[in-house]
Amino acid sequence: MTDRYFEFTHSPIGKSVSNLLGLPQPPKLARATEAWAPAPLEGQGVLLAASPNATAVAALLKALTAMGAAIRVAPQHVGLPVIKAAAQDAKITLSSEPVRDAGEPGSRAIVFDATGARRPEDLRALYDLFHPQVAALPAQGRVLVIGRVAHGETDVGARTCAAALQGFVKSLAKEVGKKGSTVNHIELESGAEARLEAALRFLMTPHAAFVTGQTLRVGKGQGSAPSLPGSLQGKVAVVTGAARGIGAAIAEVLVREGAQVVGIDHPAQEGALGETLSRLGGYGMALDVTAANAGERIATEVAEKFGGIDVIVHNAGVTRDKMMRNMPPHFWDLVLDINLGSILRINERLLKGGLNGGARVVCISSIGGIAGNAGQTNYGATKAGIIGYVSALAPAMAKAGGAINAVAPGYIETQMTAAMPVGPREVGRRLSSLSQGGLPQDIAEAVVFFASPAAAGINGSTLRVCGQNFVGA
Ligand SMILES: NC(=O)c1ccc[n+]([C@@H]2O[C@H](COP(=O)([O-])OP(=O)(O)OC[C@H]3O[C@@H](n4cnc5c(N)ncnc54)[C@H](O)[C@@H]3O)[C@@H](O)[C@H]2O)c1
Repeated sequence: MTDRYFEFTHSPIGKSVSNLLGLPQPPKLARATEAWAPAPLEGQGVLLAASPNATAVAALLKALTAMGAAIRVAPQHVGLPVIKAAAQDAKITLSSEPVRDAGEPGSRAIVFDATGARRPEDLRALYDLFHPQVAALPAQGRVLVIGRVAHGETDVGARTCAAALQGFVKSLAKEVGKKGSTVNHIELESGAEARLEAALRFLMTPHAAFVTGQTLRVGKGQGSAPSLPGSLQGKVAVVTGAARGIGAAIAEVLVREGAQVVGIDHPAQEGALGETLSRLGGYGMALDVTAANAGERIATEVAEKFGGIDVIVHNAGVTRDKMMRNMPPHFWDLVLDINLGSILRINERLLKGGLNGGARVVCISSIGGIAGNAGQTNYGATKAGIIGYVSALAPAMAKAGGAINAVAPGYIETQMTAAMPVGPREVGRRLSSLSQGGLPQDIAEAVVFFASPAAAGINGSTLRVCGQNFVGA
């Protein structure tokens, strides 16, 4: 659905009026138009900084170099032993010259390795770096702060500092969002440094244009992982609710990355499903995900046609909103069954056979499950249930060499949100750091990242893709 306010503020007259009245001007976000590139930061300036005793510098240098970045070191950090040693090992000569890429005043991205922070005084390095740099961050800039997993730390000071980073990132994201810039946080498990690159390739590129103010936990994961570009080539991916909206976008981005897509939708949507899948060169299955034999049909039909499932995305979902006191029982039952019950039943069947080794499961949650909404007790329960489900199933998936994660969309422009009353719709759009709704592609990009074997270190997580919507922040 068209966001008329967004279009108005980007028209010549709308720009002047909104300037004059001091109205918010949602930035135009640069989104990915192509598949994951081998060197997505080619020629772009990245400013690297670290706290003393940081442990991820070497991995960051390696990843940023592989991504083609022009790396500079914050002047006050040039002499840090951790940086000097990592640069020597990687045979990189680091400069602290001010970065000017493509005529921009500052670095396109700032990466701060705060894994060494042990005392509140260590956090002063954040201030010292960002205070002079943040104003020079160009539009659509990227900030990444890497820290330790707070609850994994036994040292009280280290745990305090790891937790402090979340508040820093969430607050800075609210300051720079009006320029379309994003600020995110990686919680890095000890020993998982080699897994950083895939997360950087996602969070630092236009593939994560609508992800800001979020924490992504990166763990050690299983086995070796390929690099992100090309890692979904030839994989078989099943997407439920694929006829339209977010599901159709997920199917499209999976195809862009080289996957063979099987799209599923309710038999009542068979026409739309056929249109979407034939446009994408995928295979369509008209199937109600709540049918008792849904798991069986998916397992056998996909095995027969394509030899097994590498990725399954549980996207099909509905709303039936009513205040609790007015909610008829069938509203409750339908939403619980489609949004949650069907996922558990289908996965239970697939885990007995149908999934290929190293399979990825991705579920679609919602910020409605994190914040709750009046009139959505049924929907909120299902979407919060998904968050619990992915964390509960993660160990079993890891044992099988796979992973399960969830994406929690914020306000996304689809038929589901077009049906909202105008007031809540405007609030949903504007009350976020990027002051606009997301597009189905934004959710698709995150789902497809989780679907990749390259994201091997991420399991049991839920990532909000919401432009840092203030609901449930
Ligand atoms: N649009 C948003 O802002 C938003 C926000 C948060 C979460 N979500 C979630 O994202 C997912 C997709 O939402 P959307 O906005 O694209 O919705 P949508 O209504 O446009 O699409 C949902 C699709 O699921 C299909 N579906 C519904 N019941 C089914 C069943 N029983 N069997 C098979 N298919 C079925 C529908 O036919 C439809 O094609 C949902 O899980 C939704 O809860 C959306």
